[in-house]
Amino acid sequence: MLLPQSGKGSDAELICKTVKKLLPLGVRTMVKTTTASINFHNEGKEVVVANGANLRQQALANGIDLYTWKGKLMNCGGVGQCATCVVEILAGMEHCSPPTEFEQRQLRKKPHCRLACQTLVYGPVTVKTKP
Ligand code: FES
Repeated sequence: MLLPQSGKGSDAELICKTVKKLLPLGVRTMVKTTTASINFHNEGKEVVVANGANLRQQALANGIDLYTWKGKLMNCGGVGQCATCVVEILAGMEHCSPPTEFEQRQLRKKPHCRLACQTLVYGPVTVKTKP
């Protein structure tokens, strides 16, 4: 189930606030987190999303520009073939889906980078666009 985008008063934000209140009470084992958060470092914007959300889709939906001029002209539309949507994961790599074989080949010299279109987010992640 996809939750609405972040924003004041959204369901996702309410769930996130509730979970944050319960965690200090030791309720962690009883609560399965259903949201993740993406902190876009360069833009200074944090977005609360559903667990398993696609990083590229969430960035575009929230007005975050992922592409350089070359990527804007000739990106593959998010099917993982052009490698123009590269982002650097500053924190929370462990909360991302495993890299695909294409990513492993394309980004072998950039171990902290991922293709946004191939990355699913399962927890708090800090992302730098256009590394
Ligand atoms: S948009 Fe082409 S690889 Fe991500």
